[in-house]
Amino acid sequence: MKALIIGSGGREQALAWKIGLSDMITHIYMAPGNGGSLPKCLNVPIGVTQFESIAQLIKEKEIELVIVGPEVPLVEGIVDFLQADPQLSHLHIVGPTKAGAELEGSKEFAKAFMLRHGIPTAKYRSFTSETLEEGLSYLREEERPPYVLKADGLAAGKGVVIPETLEEAEAEMKEMLGGKFGAAGATVVVESHLSGIECSVFVLTDGRDYMLLPTAKDYKRIGEGDTGLNTGGMGAVSPVPFVDDAFIQKVEERIIRPTIQGLHSEGIDYRGFIFFGLMNVAGDPYVIEYNCRMGDPETEAVMLRIKGDLVGSMLALKEQVLGQMEPLLEFDQVATTVVTVSKGYPEAYEKGYPITGLEGEATHDLQIFHMGTASQEEGVVTSGGRVLAISSMGDTIQEALDKAYHRLQGVHYEGITYRHDIGQDLLKL
Ligand code: AMP
Ligand code: GLY
Repeated sequence: MKALIIGSGGREQALAWKIGLSDMITHIYMAPGNGGSLPKCLNVPIGVTQFESIAQLIKEKEIELVIVGPEVPLVEGIVDFLQADPQLSHLHIVGPTKAGAELEGSKEFAKAFMLRHGIPTAKYRSFTSETLEEGLSYLREEERPPYVLKADGLAAGKGVVIPETLEEAEAEMKEMLGGKFGAAGATVVVESHLSGIECSVFVLTDGRDYMLLPTAKDYKRIGEGDTGLNTGGMGAVSPVPFVDDAFIQKVEERIIRPTIQGLHSEGIDYRGFIFFGLMNVAGDPYVIEYNCRMGDPETEAVMLRIKGDLVGSMLALKEQVLGQMEPLLEFDQVATTVVTVSKGYPEAYEKGYPITGLEGEATHDLQIFHMGTASQEEGVVTSGGRVLAISSMGDTIQEALDKAYHRLQGVHYEGITYRHDIGQDLLKL
């Protein structure tokens, strides 16, 4: 069977690597892909929102399985578009419809959804430019520092601001409603601040049942010790040590099941991944955010730990028979991912620098997934802020990290930057 993976990051490379291990998959098209070259994979120069061209490719190449990596095409309705084509009725698609993708596409929708279905999350109110004055008095009277302000729409991971003072929070609200994030910030959600440790829980759902995937923790800040600007993610560790059976049971009872039942009861067709961004507040899980896709770089760690054939589960979505599948087995080992970035990221950075040291055989427990790279005649060059994800497995977090950092010593490009403290907070728990 031929598959198509839509997207160009490390998440898509890790998904391609994992499904490529399956005997069921013969060819994997990556649209548009990046400089990574994995077995069975071929890049096609089609962008993630070129729906017509994607549909044409599926027909031409007789693709049977489509996995949508990033949120933008999902929020723009790629699944609805493909489902509406009578010639594609045979297609297996991993990804929710536009209505389902609203869980990520609109923070206000997500908050109201959680409220309707009794799913634990921080208290909130939302405001627009018409209700700015109300918003400012809400900040003054109802909230306390630190303040949490979120642009309603997709803002490439930059739409959440956490000011420490009321003055900053007021200024931020005015700027957001004044157009700082464009249309994404036309509505601003103000949330109460939750204190705890974050973790990510992933499921694959067919809209009725779900399958838990390995948990992971992401490292969002650019600087060591979780300092500096937010990024797309600088590293990941899977599993998360504090996510024990008791905690995951609470997550399933209070969050995962009500979410899937809620989607079903609202008539929303959701067959794909759900990423629950959670805060563990003194042992109780709260939803910080939903994403309608897998996380990046979490996927680069999570895929290493899945023992079974993920393709079988993906093919169960269409007929909603996921409940008949065996749960996915996980390797007991720990997986870690260290992300390398371009100098300057997440602010302005340069690209086009040659990358050396990528050669050498990949093993199951040590992979270099390309994130922002491009393949040129002279070789692979940097082409994004986040460049490579070095993922490795070991019996302990430290052993996995040692492998990744050791491998990294042989990889070079101008301005290579990475955090040296991925996972260190978990070692202290
Ligand atoms: P989000 O894009 O919603 O994941 O938010 C980005 C980051 O902001 C999260 O990973 C958290 O670290 C932080 N954050 C978001 N909402 C809250 C909240 N209610 N309380 C504390 N931190 C939050
Ligand atoms: N690593 C966080 C995300 O993918 O949104």
